[in-house]
Amino acid sequence: AQPVIVAIDGPSGTGKSSTSKAVAGRLGLSYLDTGAQYRAITWWMVNNGIDIEDPSAIAAVTDKPEIVSGTDPAHPTITVDGVDVAGPIRTQEVTSKVSAVSAVPEVRARITELQRSLAAAADQGIVVEGRDIGTTVLPDADLKIFLTASPEARAARRSGELKGADVNSTREALIKRDAADSSRKTSPLAKADDAVEVDTTALTLTQVIECVVTLVEEKR
Ligand code: C5P
Repeated sequence: AQPVIVAIDGPSGTGKSSTSKAVAGRLGLSYLDTGAQYRAITWWMVNNGIDIEDPSAIAAVTDKPEIVSGTDPAHPTITVDGVDVAGPIRTQEVTSKVSAVSAVPEVRARITELQRSLAAAADQGIVVEGRDIGTTVLPDADLKIFLTASPEARAARRSGELKGADVNSTREALIKRDAADSSRKTSPLAKADDAVEVDTTALTLTQVIECVVTLVEEKR
C-alpha cells in the first residue's frame, strides 16, 4: 500500500494528541506532534536566555538547537541537543511563550523542513498533528482533519490534564494562545478548504478515534 499522510489540525484542548496517537497506533502509522517541536525550540530559547519578545534575536539563533522527534506512536520522544525534554516542554513557562516563538518566520521555516523530512521518511505513512499541517506543511496530505470543540469543553479537558488547575484561568490562557496562533502572519492556525471538520464537544475520545480511523480507511 502507498504511505498515507494524515494531517490533524485544530486549537488546543480538542483532543488532537490523544486522537492522533491512537489513530496512528491502530493503523500502524508513524506519529508526529509538531507542537512538541515548537515547545522544544521555545524551551531552548528560554534556557539560553534569548529575549522572546525580540523576533530578530530568536531568528538569529533558530538553527542552533538540534531537535529530534521520535515518531513511534507508542513512545513519542523529543530531544534537544540529545537531552530528553518531554517533561520540561510542558511547563507553564514554555506554554505561555511558545506562541511568540512559533510566530517567527525563521522558526517556522526550520521546523516545517524537519516536519516534511520526517513525513517523507515514514514508509507506512504518518499522522501529523498541529496548527498548519493541512494548510502549509503537507498541503497534499491524503486526509485533512480539523478538530474543534467549545471553549468550555477545551478548558475542562486541559485543566483535567493539568490536575487541579483552575478551569477559568486555563480557559483564559487557552483562548489567548489560540488568538495569537490564529492571528499571526506566517501560517496561522486555520482549517484547510479541503479539511473535514469534526466537532468533538459532545463526543468521547473513543468516538473521535473511530471517526478518524474510518475516514483514513476510506482513503486507503
Ligand atoms: O499543540 P501544542 O499545544 O503543544 O502546541 C503548542 C504551540 O505550538 C501552539 O500554541 C502554537 O503556538 C505552536 N504550534 C504551531 N504550529 C504547529 C503546532 C504548534 O505554531 N503546527
